[in-house]
Amino acid sequence: MEFQIDKTDGSARACTIKTAHSTIQTPVFMPVGTVGSVKSLDAVDMSEMLGAQIILGNTYHLYLRPNDEVIKHFGGLHGFTKFPNSFLTDSGGFQAFSLSDISKADVNGIMFKSHIDGSSHYFTPEKVLDIQYNFNSDIMMILDDLVALPATKERIALSIKRTTDWAQRAITYHKQKQSEGIGLHQNIFAIIQGGTDKEFRQISANELCALPFDGFAIGGLSVGESNALMYETVEFVTPLMPKDKPRYLMGVGTPEDLVENVERGVDMFDCVMPTRNARNGSLFTSFGKISIKNAKFQRDEAPLDPECECFTCKHYSRGYLHHLFRAKELTYFRLASIHNLHYYLTLMKQMRQAILKGEFKAFKAEFYAKRAK
Ligand code: GUN
Ligand code: ZN
Repeated sequence: MEFQIDKTDGSARACTIKTAHSTIQTPVFMPVGTVGSVKSLDAVDMSEMLGAQIILGNTYHLYLRPNDEVIKHFGGLHGFTKFPNSFLTDSGGFQAFSLSDISKADVNGIMFKSHIDGSSHYFTPEKVLDIQYNFNSDIMMILDDLVALPATKERIALSIKRTTDWAQRAITYHKQKQSEGIGLHQNIFAIIQGGTDKEFRQISANELCALPFDGFAIGGLSVGESNALMYETVEFVTPLMPKDKPRYLMGVGTPEDLVENVERGVDMFDCVMPTRNARNGSLFTSFGKISIKNAKFQRDEAPLDPECECFTCKHYSRGYLHHLFRAKELTYFRLASIHNLHYYLTLMKQMRQAILKGEFKAFKAEFYAKRAK
C-alpha cells in the first residue's frame, strides 16, 4: 500500500492510504460486514450511497460459511460481494475466542468449535493467511492470542510472547508467499496486545513494530475497561508505533471514543456499534443519541437529525421510523443503518477537515458542546 501523512494537528493525523482497490482518507471508520455484507445493506448502498472506502470482514465467519474456497471461486471478496473498495479482514482469533463454544490456544495456534455446527477447526498463523489470500483482502490481520480478563501476569506475558511468535511466523510466511507470487497486492497488519498494563504494551509494541508489517493495530481494548483507561492506554501506545504506517484501533467505539482516539493519533477504526445500535432503535445525531421507540416520536414530522444529509433523513420522518421500528418492519433496519453509518462516516470526514485546517481542538470542543445542550 501507499501511505502518506497529509497533515498533523497535535497528535491527530490526516493520512492517505492507497490499496489495490481504493484510496482511503483517514481518519477512517470501517463499517463491519462480518459475513460479507453490512447487515441490512448491500455493496451498492455501501459504496455509492454511503461512500465507504473500506469495510471489514471476518475470517472466522467467512471461513466457516461459505468458506474461503467458494469465495476464491468468485474472485475473492470483491468478486463475491461486488463491493469495489477495500476489504480488511480480521484474523479469526478474536472471534474464535468470543463466539466459539470451546476455544483453546497452544503454541501453534487456536483450536475451536464452530458456533454453527460444532465442527472442530484449528487456526495457525499460516492457515489464517492462506484463508485471507483466498479472500484477496486488501488488509489481512495476523492471528493474535487473546486472554480473558482478569488474567494473571503470567498469562498476559504468555499472550504477548505468543502474539510476537505468531507475528514472526506470519511475516516470514507472507514474504515467502509473496516471493512465490501470492498476495502481492495484499497488506498485513500486526496486533499489539498487553491489556491495560504499560509494561506489557511496551514490550508488545517494541517487538512487533520492529517487524516489517504494513501497519499496526492496537487490540485487546474496549473489553470492559473504563473509557479513561482505554484512552490512557492508546495515548501510551501510539507514540511507540511507527509514524510512517497506519495505526488501527480494533473494535472501537462510540462517537466520543473516535474523537478521543483520533486526538491520540489513531487512523483507523471499526465497530459494530452504528449498525447494531441502529437495529436496537438507538440512533446517533449531532446532538446525541435518541431512542426511536420513545412514544414522543409518534407524531414527530421532523427528520431524525435536521443536520443530517443521509438518504433516510432526506426522505423520512421520525414518526414513520418510530412506526417501522414498533412494527419490526425490515425496512426499518435498512433506513436506520444508513443513518447511523452516515453519521459515523461524516464524523470521520469532519475530523479530517478539522485536522487539515489545524482546528481539531476547536472541533472537539464544539462536538462536546452540542451534546451537552
Ligand atoms: N477485534 C477487537 N479487538 C480485537 C483484538 O484484540 N484482536 C483481534 N484479532 N480482533 C479484535
Ligand atoms: Zn440521517
